[in-house]
Amino acid sequence: MLLRRIKILLIAITTCLFVACAPSERALKIAKLSGDAAEGKVYYENKCSRCHGTDGKGGQGVNLIEHRDGHDDAELIDMILEGSGTMPSFNHLEDQEIADIISHIRAL
Ligand code: HEC
Repeated sequence: MLLRRIKILLIAITTCLFVACAPSERALKIAKLSGDAAEGKVYYENKCSRCHGTDGKGGQGVNLIEHRDGHDDAELIDMILEGSGTMPSFNHLEDQEIADIISHIRAL
């Protein structure tokens, strides 16, 4: 009985690690593109700065300068694709646009 429970728990944890919690295929693909920070600045200022501030220090959205260091590109991209809470999903953007935005965020 106990062994069975442990098994179920292990399956749940593994599923979470490899499916739900891991960055999506698309995020991993975008993370491999090389972004153009200058292009990204334009997109960022149009789509993100009203919540995250032109300087990235936040406002309605989180402080990206503090946040970016604890997360790799694929994790940040996943968040941008999926959104969370009041953060809207940006999965309609082109892969290259998102890669450019990431380069800009890293350069802030
Ligand atoms: C309407 C306001 C709003 C806009 C527009 C917005 N964000 Fe956000 N963003 C948020 C909020 C609020 C959070 C915190 C969400 C949470 O923690 O649930 C967030 C979180 C994030 C995070 C980190 C999430 C985490 O905790 O892992 C990243 C990265 C991010 N935003 C990037 C962007 C980028 C890039 C854009 C533009 C393409 C953008 N955001 C546009 C409000 C916004």
